[in-house]
Formats: sequence, structure tokens, C-alpha cells
Amino acid sequence: MRATERTSSEGASLHSEVARLGGTMRSLLCFVVLCAATALSQGEKTKTEEVEELLNASDQLDFGGASDLVLFLGSTGVGKSTLSKFITHNPSLQSVKIGSSFVFTDNGTISTITSKSMTLLPNIYKDPETKQLIVDCPGFSDTREEKYEIAASFFVKKVLEYGKKLKIILVENHFSLTEGADRFGFKRLLKHVSELIPNVERLRGSLALIATKVINQGIPDDEEKADILSFMSNFANDLRNDLTVQKQNETLFKTTEGILKALETLYGDGSGNNVALFRKPNRAGDPWQSSILLKCYQDIRALIFHTTPWIDNQNQ
Ligand SMILES: *[C@@H]1O[C@H](CO)[C@@H](O)[C@H](O)[C@H]1NC(C)=O
Ligand SMILES: *[C@@H]1O[C@H](CO)[C@@H](O)[C@H](O)[C@H]1NC(C)=O
Ligand SMILES: *[C@@H]1O[C@H](CO)[C@@H](O)[C@H](O)[C@H]1NC(C)=O
Repeated sequence: MRATERTSSEGASLHSEVARLGGTMRSLLCFVVLCAATALSQGEKTKTEEVEELLNASDQLDFGGASDLVLFLGSTGVGKSTLSKFITHNPSLQSVKIGSSFVFTDNGTISTITSKSMTLLPNIYKDPETKQLIVDCPGFSDTREEKYEIAASFFVKKVLEYGKKLKIILVENHFSLTEGADRFGFKRLLKHVSELIPNVERLRGSLALIATKVINQGIPDDEEKADILSFMSNFANDLRNDLTVQKQNETLFKTTEGILKALETLYGDGSGNNVALFRKPNRAGDPWQSSILLKCYQDIRALIFHTTPWIDNQNQ
């Protein structure tokens, strides 16, 4: 046990501890899923019992005593787990050439939207340098059954309640932050943020954004960031217009209002100081050997560990 802990690259003992507990919860969840599949035919589990088991699993959420948490929130498939490994310098992350482009691999496997990224439980990484805990929260999705969506949101909510001090970092595909792209995914993320974080406006100045999978086409960081801010500004204007025609439908109005508040909070003063870029790999091998990715590594770390202030989560 100790020996394997030592060889684990990022986590040290805390990570193993959490992984162990995570393992317990994971088996419990698998159990729930299995039971759900057989419930009708064998009558083994009722819906109430399924929910109760999920609730029980969340009681076991354990961060090894740490209560200051850096949270990554985003949809499934945006690359939160690759990002977590990248910024904690986990050597299992490498890049390979596929066709004419380069992609990240994790321990030799190309990351896709697999069952792993569909996990309902948070993954925890300890930054070896700052010792801060990064909680890769379960991703939001619209392709799973509703009960799994509810469970994922529930676990995010638990993490939000548990942390005494928080840093909240939104993670989104760069493509979804560009003009002309489908806004649905980003809108869903903002909707979740507004629902999960009461009075989201209080995060103004401390809500950060990391754009992932940024294509290397020679556009400097500042221009890429300015484009993202301009996209957010236009999106906010469109939402304001939507609100004027949604007054007669209270439900719709409240939802749009929440999304707009989350977006305005993220936009902040429009300086882009709370935005960082995680670019695609541009060469094969060790990602940190690439000067482009090394800059991303430094910028993202500066954003997470230095620029973004802690939010006191005690009195809300
Ligand atoms: C949930 O936890 C309670 C209290 O520990 C226990 O009595 C109950 O049996 C558990 N329920 C399930 C479905 O595991
Ligand atoms: C990495 O892959 C090897 C071989 O496929 C496997 O034995 C090992 O357990 C994997 N390590 C991790 C951390 O997943
Ligand atoms: C309000 O909007 C929601 C969401 O689009 C819709 O489901 C609902 O039917 C609308 N209610 C009314 C009264 O039009």
C-alpha cells in the first residue's frame, strides 16, 4: 500500500486515501447502476433505495481533512481530467501524433468521452507544489439518463457545501466560446452554476475560466482572450434581449436571468485577467517540453494558484 502510494505521481498519501474511498463509492455506484438495470425484472431495489444509496455514498466524501478546494466545473468531454493532470505535471500525460494533429494520451490511452469521464464522483488531485486540492467535479451532460444528471449535480453540490474556502474554475471547450458556435453547452454550464451557487454575483472577481483545446493557429493569447470576452459580451446582450420577451413566462425568465447573472459574473470587469488558455499539443512526447504548452502550464497555474482569490464559504 505504502509502496504504491510513493510511486503515484501526483497524489501522495492523501490521493490514495481519497482514491480508496472513491473506490468504495464507485463500487457502490456500480452496484446502484446494476441494481437499476435489474430492478424491474427482479424487484431487488426500489427507486428510494437507489437514492438512499447515493445519499449514503456522498456522506463518505472525504478530502483527507482538507477544506480549501479548487473546483473544476464543466461539461463532460471538455477535458477537465486532462487539464488536472496537465497542471499537476502528471507524467502519465503525453501527446502523440494522430493523422496530421497531436492529441493528449493518458497512460497511452487517447481520452474520449468514456465511462471514465462520465463518472458521477469527483476526482481529486493534490498539487505537488502548492499542496492545494483540485476537485475535478463530475461533468454535466445531456446524453445520460436524468437520474445520473441529478446524481452528478448532487455530488457537485456536496463538494460546494463541504469546502470552507473555494476557488471556482469553469472549464469549457474553446470552440464553444467562439462566435457562431452552438451556445448550448456553455449555456448549460452557466445554468448549472447559477443553480448550484446561490447569489452567484458574490463570486464577481473570483470566478475564473479555462478554455480548453485551443487550436494553435498562430493567434496570440491576448487576441484569443479578447475574442472570448467579446463572445461573452455578445452572448450577454442576447440573453438580455431574451429576457424582455420572456417576462410572461416566469420559469423561463428566472432560468435566463440566472444564466445571465452567471455570465456577467464570469465576464467581470472585462479585463480577461480571469481567463486562461489550454492549447492543444503541438508536438509528440512530453507536453511540458513544448514551449507553447509550457506557457499554458505557467499561465494556468498562475491563474489558479495566484490570481484567483479564495472565496470564504462559511457564511452563506
Ligand atoms: C444508508 O445509511 C443508513 C445509516 O448509516 C443505513 O441505515 C442504511 O441502511 C443505508 N442505506 C442503504 C440503502 O445503504
Ligand atoms: C498504465 O498502463 C499500464 C499498462 O497498460 C498498466 O499496467 C498501469 O496500471 C497503468 N497505470 C495507470 C496509473 O493507470
Ligand atoms: C414557460 O417556458 C418553459 C420552458 O420553455 C415551458 O416548458 C413552459 O411550458 C412555459 N410556460 C408557459 C406558461 O408558457
